[in-house]
Amino acid sequence: MKKPWYHYLFTRSPIAKIMWGIASVMITILALVVQHFMEYPRMDAQTLSWEGRSVEQGAALYYNNCASCHGYQGQGGAAPALNSRYFFGTEVDADFNPWDLPEERWVGRLTDVGWAGSMHDYVELTLAGGRPSKAHNQWNQVMPTWGSQFGGPLGADKVIHLTNFVVNWREEALAQTPEEDPWQFFQDTLSTGLPYMPDEPGYDAKIAAAIQAAELAGREAGYMIDGVEAAPPPPARAPQELYVTMTCTACHGVDQDQTEDNRGPVGPYHGNLWETAGSTVEGMSAEEYVYTSIIDPNAHIVDGYPSPSSMPATLAEQMTEEEIQGLVAWLLDPNKEVD
Ligand code: HEC
Ligand code: HEC
Repeated sequence: MKKPWYHYLFTRSPIAKIMWGIASVMITILALVVQHFMEYPRMDAQTLSWEGRSVEQGAALYYNNCASCHGYQGQGGAAPALNSRYFFGTEVDADFNPWDLPEERWVGRLTDVGWAGSMHDYVELTLAGGRPSKAHNQWNQVMPTWGSQFGGPLGADKVIHLTNFVVNWREEALAQTPEEDPWQFFQDTLSTGLPYMPDEPGYDAKIAAAIQAAELAGREAGYMIDGVEAAPPPPARAPQELYVTMTCTACHGVDQDQTEDNRGPVGPYHGNLWETAGSTVEGMSAEEYVYTSIIDPNAHIVDGYPSPSSMPATLAEQMTEEEIQGLVAWLLDPNKEVD
């Protein structure tokens, strides 16, 4: 009998049958794995297109609701600019840090208002809640409340679309020179730094505007935004003055020596501190000992006094490092006096 054309599909050997089974399971697994990895780019693409559509919808909402105050291009007018380099803020060159900012050198609107969250959250919350409390601002307009959760006219989805639209200006805004940046400084600007470099066009005018706004608000802006020079810190207070104003005299005195039978009222007398400080704690110099006693009263408790120390640890926080150092040197002076 002639074999049918599909005769090769019949497998007689059991080993071969098992092999076929294994192979088909492997192929199925492989197909699942491939499909799994293809899903991510597909979802990313969908998110992108969703965001794109969200920005488009946000644009329409913006032109209808916001442009009259914030400008059609976000350039400001009756309300602050949003399409602005200062508004988005930027990272300042690590080599150029005249503001003496601690770690981060991110400067702009968010650092000025002290907002720790993201730009997206800042915009979303501002426009959802509005700024009803700022009825008397330099714009003579109040930022209305938009979010329905705060009694405004727009649902949460529309607020998100608007936020996406505003945040979408970022790249364009960051390409502005100081001259092109439409930002008008708020009178409540703290100005912890401006995101401009001295060699950019319009730098001086921008700095001048920021200083003027700060002065109008009765603030000192000089040290931070003058761009090159840091203004001198306030002069250090004299040790005698600190000894009185920091209430040291309530518990200590410098006019008597601390001895076994002549102990200060609450804390030890400081008259002979210059003599004893160097030998009170082994391995600590007199300066180290006095310094530590002030910034961390519990680090070492003077014999005969209760633990924890009744001396407040918060006193040091109210003095600058320079002032504490001055106080230490003065306390170790045998001829110190308080008026
Ligand atoms: C009636 C005018 C007016 C309208 C309309 C308006 N705003 Fe405002 N907006 C203001 C004012 C004024 C401020 C500044 C308030 C202040 O002094 O803090 C402001 C502030 C903002 C801020 C914060 C700016 C900053 O640097 O702190 C954002 C973001 C904002 N508006 C977005 C919008 C959006 C989005 C819309 C449209 C839904 C909108 N605004 C509609 C007047 C308006
Ligand atoms: C509320 C009371 C109180 C005040 C205020 C206070 N101290 Fe004291 N101080 C103490 C007591 C109690 C001790 C002893 C216990 C200890 O070691 O903390 C002490 C210990 C010290 C010592 C170590 C003295 C030694 O003889 O070894 C120094 C130095 C000192 N204080 C400096 C200061 C200075 C400077 C101020 C002001 C900035 C100050 N204290 C304010 C209560 C006070």
